[in-house]
Amino acid sequence: MTGEASDTVPPTAGPLTLREPVIDDGHRIHALVRATGALDLNSTYCYLLLSSHFAGTCAVAARNGDVLGAVLGYCKPQQPETLFIWQVGVHPSARGQGIGRRLLHYVLDQPGCGDVRFLEATVTPDNDASWALFSAVARDRGAALTHGPGFDPAHFGGQSHEPEALLRIGPLAATATTRE
Ligand SMILES: CC(C)(COP(=O)(O)OP(=O)(O)OC[C@H]1O[C@@H](n2cnc3c(N)ncnc32)[C@H](O)[C@@H]1OP(=O)(O)O)[C@@H](O)C(=O)NCCC(=O)NCCS
Repeated sequence: MTGEASDTVPPTAGPLTLREPVIDDGHRIHALVRATGALDLNSTYCYLLLSSHFAGTCAVAARNGDVLGAVLGYCKPQQPETLFIWQVGVHPSARGQGIGRRLLHYVLDQPGCGDVRFLEATVTPDNDASWALFSAVARDRGAALTHGPGFDPAHFGGQSHEPEALLRIGPLAATATTRE
């Protein structure tokens, strides 16, 4: 499903801060996901849960109080060494500046990901930006990127949905590395 693009353009001036989300970010992340125009838009409640219960495996990029990028992930309950990136989005006005890449590294370097050795995500075959983003992170980390079947269109029931390949990066080095 594709969300509607937003007319709201965040400011381009001011320092960019990467940090864990807080509860007040939930509705801002919802607005960001809508603005991406490419991600499935979930409920604000869902983003409130991620901003609270899963804050240690999520991150936002904020400028002057506006959230212009977010990585939303969790460690798989049955495989806690695997960080699953559920959604990653950067506002259209801020793309191509390395924000998505920095956000993914930020999450991987968080204490909540200290035991993480693999990163997974599902990506549609034609999402060049997403494949390039995860490829860059794998390259930065000196880790292999592999992919296989993820979710088929049939898994979405009656909804029209592209297939989602399961992408996997790892093994990741145990020692966290700080990047620019
Ligand atoms: C995917 C997305 C998060 C990338 O964020 P971003 O901040 O623009 O990405 P970055 O600037 O950090 O770029 C990371 C890498 O991807 C490449 N890249 C970024 N956008 C690209 C595009 N449209 N086409 C090809 N490569 C692209 C960059 O060149 C860089 O690779 P490099 O280091 O080898 O040069 C952003 O395009 C987005 O929000 N898209 C809509 C939502 C979406 O599709 N999310 C992913 C769902 S799985």
